[in-house]
Amino acid sequence: MTEKWVQGEVVSIKHWTDSLYSIKINAPEIKFTAGQYTRVSLDIDNEEVARPYSFVNSPEEPFLEIYSVSVPNGPLSTSLQKLSKGDSIKVYRNANGFLVLNEVPIVENIWMLATGTGIGPYLSILKTPNSWKRFKRVILVHAVRYEKELTYQDTIKELKKKYGERFIYITFVSREKSENSLSGRIPESIKNGTLEERAQIKLLPENTHIMLCGNPDMLKDTTIELKELGLKKHRRSSPGHITTENYW
Ligand SMILES: Cc1cc2nc3c(=O)[nH]c(=O)nc-3n(C[C@H](O)[C@H](O)[C@H](O)COP(=O)(O)OP(=O)(O)OC[C@H]3O[C@@H](n4cnc5c(N)ncnc54)[C@H](O)[C@@H]3O)c2cc1C
Ligand SMILES: NC(=O)c1ccc[n+]([C@@H]2O[C@H](COP(=O)([O-])OP(=O)(O)OC[C@H]3O[C@@H](n4cnc5c(N)ncnc54)[C@H](OP(=O)(O)O)[C@@H]3O)[C@@H](O)[C@H]2O)c1
Repeated sequence: MTEKWVQGEVVSIKHWTDSLYSIKINAPEIKFTAGQYTRVSLDIDNEEVARPYSFVNSPEEPFLEIYSVSVPNGPLSTSLQKLSKGDSIKVYRNANGFLVLNEVPIVENIWMLATGTGIGPYLSILKTPNSWKRFKRVILVHAVRYEKELTYQDTIKELKKKYGERFIYITFVSREKSENSLSGRIPESIKNGTLEERAQIKLLPENTHIMLCGNPDMLKDTTIELKELGLKKHRRSSPGHITTENYW
């Protein structure tokens, strides 16, 4: 029988800020679809501690990559932050999750809305060239507390270079002034129209699908505002416009 857990090795760890970091892992046996997550596990004080993390890499890239924030007193995220090149890390073999494009209807505009580390699965999807065949435009929205948390700028620049006006990248910074970002939160900006204004695209039920990922309160509050615009949750049994992934 195949083992459920694969023994991986840390290839590199990048510290973006005091709390945000990305880890590249060598575990070539792991297969997944862009947008999915799996569990990773460490032995902490003789106890296996496992949590789900989304993949940031596209399935074609050689190493797995996860993007994490160290949560104060969070057992796994604070331990992952201390890893270095060569350390062992277990990865659950079977990936999971519905934040994948083959679960999404083909529409003109796909909106990908994230708070914090919730941007990860969207980068995996957008780095996969086939994803771009399904939509006319992609609007990637990243909401963070501080400007320095607008990470992965190199990836964003590459996408912009490749896809030009088809790729719209909008940022929110909520706890300080930031020149090129919207202020406040995503749900309010849907309500008062500033998000549509910044994108120069309307959120219309007939040509829109929206993915939401990250903070569960953002998902809840955003869904309320989207419903006001006539958009509804997407289910396999009852197609709609909103696909979500709660991070806690
Ligand atoms: C499907 C799924 C995919 C996930 N993918 C990612 C990912 O790609 N990157 C990632 O950083 N986390 C992700 N998470 C959360 C992750 O699994 C852990 O919960 C997180 O890293 C904290 O682990 P912990 O053991 O330190 O603390 P936990 O005991 O797991 O969490 C403690 C508290 O921290 C807060 N918290 C947890 N995760 C986050 C987060 N990402 N951002 C802000 N606050 C948080 C919540 O209030 C939570 O109750 C995902 C969760 C789910 C369910
Ligand atoms: N970010 C940091 O500087 C930092 C540093 C160390 C540790 N941490 C810890 O890391 C964890 C995660 O922090 P995080 O900043 O990545 O994630 P977060 O708390 O989810 O915040 C990310 C973004 O989501 C917004 N948001 C929160 N609730 C929302 C809602 N109901 N609707 C819409 N938007 C909402 C936040 O706005 P608001 O700002 O308005 O809440 C912020 O812009 C926390 O436990 C935190 O204590 C964070």
